[in-house]
Amino acid sequence: MITGASSGIGRSCAIECSKAGATVIFTGRNEERLNEVENQLSGEGHIKLAADLNDKDQMANLVNQVGKVDGVVHCAGVSGVNPMHLLGKGMLVSVFETNYFSPIMLTQQLLIKKMIANKGSIVFMSSIAAKTGKVGLGPYSGSKSALIGSMHPLALELARHGIRVNALCPGIVDTPLFDSVGSSLDEVFAKNYPLGLGVPEDVAFAVIYFLSDASLKVTGTSFSLDGGVHFV
Ligand SMILES: NC(=O)c1ccc[n+]([C@@H]2O[C@H](COP(=O)([O-])OP(=O)(O)OC[C@H]3O[C@@H](n4cnc5c(N)ncnc54)[C@H](OP(=O)(O)O)[C@@H]3O)[C@@H](O)[C@H]2O)c1
Repeated sequence: MITGASSGIGRSCAIECSKAGATVIFTGRNEERLNEVENQLSGEGHIKLAADLNDKDQMANLVNQVGKVDGVVHCAGVSGVNPMHLLGKGMLVSVFETNYFSPIMLTQQLLIKKMIANKGSIVFMSSIAAKTGKVGLGPYSGSKSALIGSMHPLALELARHGIRVNALCPGIVDTPLFDSVGSSLDEVFAKNYPLGLGVPEDVAFAVIYFLSDASLKVTGTSFSLDGGVHFV
């Protein structure tokens, strides 16, 4: 099951997972773009479900339509750029709503209904911004750090079922989300990335590892895939 699958990283995860043989439940809000993603999927049996994950009823409806899943990839997210001294609580709540409360509560709903299979895998899409500081990224970084904070206890709680819980921390990836905050700065950013800026497929291939049996003994990690920017 992949959230945020109508765009960017989630879209690529859905496509690449389907190529790797997975049957994909893919969700997002924009039905037109979900239809476009559907056309890109390999294989058969995939399920498309539109839902706003910040809407309690729509989340419940989504959960009721999903059968047992082997993996969940939480890609739905928004940017949240504001200098800390100009921050209003409303903005902070709104960023946390999508980036933290929704993935955590969706996980809770799937777990309470026993819908994540034993030996399954949960992947949270955090960000290198959770580990490093950049001017203006306070709300976004906070929400992505919170995901990592909750990922650790969840990994311990689910280990007895063999369910792994990990977070991925991409650096800048060329997607509509990044476009919205500053693609005009591409060249400036790229200078700080020894291996260059990311593309959605870079993240999708890492997701496939964390979903597959190749990572059966990997849990509670936050894995950076950031072109080396974190040590520059
Ligand atoms: N791009 C980067 O540089 C980067 C780097 C590190 C981490 N990330 C993280 O990676 C994830 C995906 O980012 P992206 O760059 O692929 O962004 P994107 O292209 O803007 O896609 C965001 C996705 O989230 C979905 N979404 C947003 N709010 C939602 C809500 N309330 N309910 C359901 N779905 C919702 C969108 O659905 P609709 O469009 O259908 O509304 C869309 O599918 C995010 O969590 C982001 O923080 C991105």
